[in-house]
Amino acid sequence: MDLFYEKVLRPLFFRLGPERAHEYGRNFLQSLSLLQPVCRLLASANQGRGRSVELAGLTFPNHVGLAAGMDKDAEFVPAAAALGFGHVEVGTVTPKSQPGNPQPRLFRYPEHEAIVNRMGFNNGGMEAMAKRLRRLPAPGKRICPVGVNIGKNKNTALDEAANDYLACFEHLHDLADYFTVNVSSPNTEGLRELQEKGRLLEILGELERRNRERDSGAVPIFLKIAPDLSFHQIGEIIQVVEESGVSGIVATNTTIGRETLPAGVEYERGGLSGAPVRNRSTEIIRFLSRETGGKMPLIGVGGICDSASAAEKLDAGAHLVQLYTGWIYRGPFFARTLARSLRFYAE
Ligand SMILES: Cc1cc2nc3c(=O)[nH]c(=O)nc-3n(C[C@H](O)[C@H](O)[C@H](O)COP(=O)(O)O)c2cc1C
Repeated sequence: MDLFYEKVLRPLFFRLGPERAHEYGRNFLQSLSLLQPVCRLLASANQGRGRSVELAGLTFPNHVGLAAGMDKDAEFVPAAAALGFGHVEVGTVTPKSQPGNPQPRLFRYPEHEAIVNRMGFNNGGMEAMAKRLRRLPAPGKRICPVGVNIGKNKNTALDEAANDYLACFEHLHDLADYFTVNVSSPNTEGLRELQEKGRLLEILGELERRNRERDSGAVPIFLKIAPDLSFHQIGEIIQVVEESGVSGIVATNTTIGRETLPAGVEYERGGLSGAPVRNRSTEIIRFLSRETGGKMPLIGVGGICDSASAAEKLDAGAHLVQLYTGWIYRGPFFARTLARSLRFYAE
């Protein structure tokens, strides 16, 4: 099936512009998601080819999740699970809806199995996401865990950013299996400055304080980091994560670097994903795992394009993996293939 996609469907799909192709894919997955019982049946066949994982108090049916940015508005969780994903991270969602950057803002580099995007958090806002998540069973009873990736609106000043994260958190708390705090997208001006120790502690500390006060119980909160940080900066981030008490780290987001691509070519501005971020992201996971003695829950993402690159993330210390770009290049059943190939990894 993966080969059929690569040889027959992908060339047809890639004739469309990247954003148009995304629209078609999204429409199909949204329609499939309307058939929730069918998705449930397919999910039990496709997800179950992997091994289940317990992490941060949650049970994941397999190791492989859909990374944030693909299902920005939580429109096709059942379909993603039906195709074999063991968790889905929806978002990035912001308090208010916003259109994102002007098009074109999504670019494929098939010769490098890469994508560059500067989408800029286009999303329908937290109210719309809450409505969609309410149509799914409650957390814990779902076809797979659903993480909600939260961010700040473009027009919110950096000094006010904490309020945006808190607003999304409060609004979606009862609907999320876990949260991911996104301070690492390169496409919202200044956002990555929130990875600085002081600012980060303010955001994570307050989120976790409110998390623990909730009557309905605390949910795991992860922090998503950029691959462009130095090991010194990552060391400081580990301290902040431990001090604030949040659960773990998602490593990594897209890179602004182009050094892993051939020189002498003009590449589009934005975040680079896919095969060129594979090594850096794995290096960061290895560092995080070593520095935390393997105890901090880690989700590895960046450049997973075959079973070897997924296994490499687990070998480096990740407990789960996620992918985005690999799904575009390898096709709809790639998560199922990967999950199966990782079934020998115990927790
Ligand atoms: C088009 C596109 C949009 C993305 N949007 C988001 C986003 O909204 N929030 C986020 O945390 N990451 C976003 N990402 C980053 C991915 O979740 C992932 O961290 C990154 O692409 C590396 O994984 P990959 O090489 O498997 O694609 C986006 C990636 C792509 C390609």
